[in-house]
Amino acid sequence: MSNNTVFTAQKLVNPLSLTDQSFINEPYQLLAAFRENAPIWWCEANKSWVVSRYNDTQHILRSPDFEKQIQRWKYTPNPAWLQWFPQFKALKETSATWMLNMNPPDHTRVRAVVGRAFAPSTIHALKPEIEKVAHHLLELAKQKEQFDLIADFAFPLPLAIIGLIIGIPVSDADKLKSWSKALVAIIGGNRALPKLYDSGKAVIELRHYLTPMIEDRRKNPQNDLLSVLVQAEEDGTKLSTAELLSNLILLIVAGHETTVNLISNAVLCLLRHPEQLAMFKQKPELAHSVINEVLRYESPVQAAPRLANKDVVLSGQTIKSGDMVWMLLGSANRDEEQFPNADVFDITRTSTHHLSFSEGIHRCIGASLAEAEGAIAITTLFATLPDLKLVSNNIDFQSPFALRGPRKLMVRTK
Ligand code: HEM
Repeated sequence: MSNNTVFTAQKLVNPLSLTDQSFINEPYQLLAAFRENAPIWWCEANKSWVVSRYNDTQHILRSPDFEKQIQRWKYTPNPAWLQWFPQFKALKETSATWMLNMNPPDHTRVRAVVGRAFAPSTIHALKPEIEKVAHHLLELAKQKEQFDLIADFAFPLPLAIIGLIIGIPVSDADKLKSWSKALVAIIGGNRALPKLYDSGKAVIELRHYLTPMIEDRRKNPQNDLLSVLVQAEEDGTKLSTAELLSNLILLIVAGHETTVNLISNAVLCLLRHPEQLAMFKQKPELAHSVINEVLRYESPVQAAPRLANKDVVLSGQTIKSGDMVWMLLGSANRDEEQFPNADVFDITRTSTHHLSFSEGIHRCIGASLAEAEGAIAITTLFATLPDLKLVSNNIDFQSPFALRGPRKLMVRTK
C-alpha cells in the first residue's frame, strides 16, 4: 500500500491523539504519509499545527520566532473551577517553572545552575559507576532463564544514576516510578482531566518527598546536585524556592522515563536485526554509533511543542502568532531527504544528525548522560548475556505515542 493510499483512505487524525495499538506499535507508515502529503498540518480538533519533516522541524527548534511558556496557549483548559483543586494548581505552578517551559532570560539562569551537573566531563567521570550498577543488575538477572529487561535492567539503571547525581535514595523506586509515570502521561499534549489530576497529585507527593531532603542539605551540604541547587537558591539571585523544587521534579521525570525507553528500544532493535547485532558483538566499539542510530530509528521522545510568537510563513503555510506547533521528532528522524534509507536500521550510518534531543536552547541537558548510559547498557548486556533472545516478537509499545518504548520486554538468557 502506498503512503498516499493510507493517507487518503483515513480521516486525518493527529498522531498524538491516536491510541490504537496497531498505530502505536507501527506508526511510521502514517508518519511518512504526513511528511509526503501534509508536512505542516492544522489539526482543528487539537487547535494546533503538526509538523513532520526534518527541515521544518529543525528550523522551528532553532528559531527565536517559536518559544516555550506553552501554558500561555489560548486553548489551555483553564476554567476558574480548576483552581479549587490543589492538584491542578500544583501542576500548573510546577510546570510553569520547569526550565523546559521557560523562555530566556529565566531559562538561561536556571539552565546555567543545573547544567554543570550534566557537562560531558562530569558524565565521563560517572562511567565507572554506571558500569558497576549495570554489572550488578545483570548478575541478578542472569540467574533467571527469562526476565523482563525493562523491570530488571532498563528501569533500575537510569534510576540509580539519576538518584546518585541528585542525591536521593533509590530505595523508593516504586514510588518514583508511579510519580514519574503519572507525570509523563501528559507529555504530548494529553489534556484529559483525569490525567492532569493524577499528574498534579504526583507533584504534591513529590514535593512532600523532596522537601525534607532539601532541608537536610541546608544543614549538611553534600557532594550532590541537590546541595548545588540549595546553595544556588540560598544565594537569592540564581534560583527561587519554587524553581528549585520544580526543576528537581523535572529532572527525576525527564531524565528517567526517556532513558528507560532508549535502553529497551536499543535492545529490541538489536534483537530484531540479528546481522546488526552480530556486527556489534564483533565490534563493541560501535556502541555509541548503535545508540545514535537507535535514537534516530526509534526516538524515545516523538514530539516537542512550541508557541509561535509572531506570524511565520513556513513551507507555504502561515503559522499565526499564538498558535501551538507540535513537531514530530521521530518522523523528522525518518525523513528520506535527510537520511537515505531512513527506514533501515544501520549501526554504521554516518549521516546521523538526529533531532531526538531537540535543538537550540532547549536541547536536552541530559543528552551526554543518556548516551553514556545507553552505550554502557548494551555493551554490558551483550557481553554478559551473548545468547540473549526475545521470548516473543509480538511487542506492544506504550501509549501515549509521544514517548516511545515497549511496555514489557521479555528476554531469554539462553
Ligand atoms: C534518551 C534519553 C532522553 C531523550 C530522548 C530526551 C529528550 C529530550 C528532548 C527532546 C528535550 C527537549 C524538548 C523540547 O525542545 O521541547 C529534552 C529536554 C530536557 N531533558 Fe532530556 N531526554 C533524555 C534524557 C534526559 C536525561 C538523562 C536528563 C537528565 C537527567 C534529561 C533532562 C532534560 C531537561 C532538564 C530538559 C530541559 C532542557 C531545557 O529546557 O533547557 N533528559 N530532553
